[in-house]
Amino acid sequence: MKEDKELMEKIVSLAKRRGFVFPGSDIYGGLAGTWDYGDLGGELLHNIKHTWWKRFVSRRRDMYGIRAAILMNGKVWEASGHVAGFSDPLVECTKCHKRFREDTLKEKGKCDECGAPVGEARQFNMMFSTKVGAMDDSAAVSYLRPETAQGIFVNFKNTVDAYHPKLPFGIAQIGKAFRNEITPRDFLFRQREFEQMEIEYFIRPEDWEKYFLYWRDEMLAWMEEIGLDMNKVHELEVADEDRAFYSKRTIDFEFDWPFGRKELFGLAYRTDYDLGVHKLDYIDEERGERIVPHVIEPSCGVDRAFLALMLSAYNEEEKEGETRVFLKFKPSMAPILACVSPLLKNKPELVEYANTKVYAPLKEEFGRIAWDDNGNIGKRYRRQDEIGTPYCVVIDFDTLEDDSVTVRDRDTGTQERVKVSELVNFLKGKIN
Ligand code: GAP
Repeated sequence: MKEDKELMEKIVSLAKRRGFVFPGSDIYGGLAGTWDYGDLGGELLHNIKHTWWKRFVSRRRDMYGIRAAILMNGKVWEASGHVAGFSDPLVECTKCHKRFREDTLKEKGKCDECGAPVGEARQFNMMFSTKVGAMDDSAAVSYLRPETAQGIFVNFKNTVDAYHPKLPFGIAQIGKAFRNEITPRDFLFRQREFEQMEIEYFIRPEDWEKYFLYWRDEMLAWMEEIGLDMNKVHELEVADEDRAFYSKRTIDFEFDWPFGRKELFGLAYRTDYDLGVHKLDYIDEERGERIVPHVIEPSCGVDRAFLALMLSAYNEEEKEGETRVFLKFKPSMAPILACVSPLLKNKPELVEYANTKVYAPLKEEFGRIAWDDNGNIGKRYRRQDEIGTPYCVVIDFDTLEDDSVTVRDRDTGTQERVKVSELVNFLKGKIN
């Protein structure tokens, strides 16, 4: 696939200009691999996580949530194999001494910066280590978690003791993960601090194939639900030599990013590896036996979902000699559901009506409602198009007579009159 640098630049620039995503520590020159989400970005992130949690946790009977601490006893990471094995191959340029991840070099064996040969690869552990407390000995070493999964495994016994779930059941977590990536790049795609949404689904060993396929379909259904461009999503069966050390089968869901086809999410069969290394088991009362359940793990990066959604939604259209940019988010996902505007800013009767009879009740009901009375209506529409607001609600002089407003649709530009008393239901109908 051809690299589309221009599209990526447009997305990064729009994201900053309109308050979706800012470079981390921006006023100090940034910190590689970190990004901060602004108000609109935060809303979109929230909607992504909310749909995931609703679909996979709160609406299900076999799922339990957990919010584990990011800092965990260092022994967790020794047992899990991450201290010994969570590493990437690092190479150093023989000339300029810049370091790279070997498997992401643009040209094999050559420095990405100056083209000189790179040296032998060595393994670089990607966990951020830290010291806990004032003690300066090895017992105090801990790590920022590189995956949320281990917070789930170490709470397996607590969850079973508290809720007595029957197999199969899952434990889910959304939270931050940290990796000291050698070459963070491509905006939100490869960061050093990011967020994951993970499920560990515990099953009887003989059922693994059935549930692997089940979760594959569930992941695809969720991607469709949030509005990813499914033509850009592809499945890759990960080869034996490329799988993580704990996995017997992995599918990567890849996405056609502007910088190439690369991993979006992953689905892994982790066998009984993790419960085994943590010496945990389960009494299967239905069968009267003690077993170590096996695990299917659907794992999604929140930030990659965010970027894929921005790319899926991005649209440009030529209109009357101008380029209209609009983000075609589903109403359920858009950071702002509707923008309320009095036709003229200097007509107090319009402003008063718009504020008290339209904006206030919609804001109370949905939260995700904006107010804009700046510039002419055309400019207001463009501003909202660019951040993906599906509806603009305009209060004009007719409104004062008939208690109706104009609702303009972002994608088609069509306008319809809606009774003010019907507005809440009108918008509710769009998000359900
Ligand atoms: N618990 C399994 C696990 O962590 P992974 O494939 O290493 O598996 C899962 O990570 C997901 O986390 C990826 O599919 C991706 O969406 C996201 N992810 C991983 N590394 C990332 C990074 N450096 N920046 C942003 N997202 C990342």
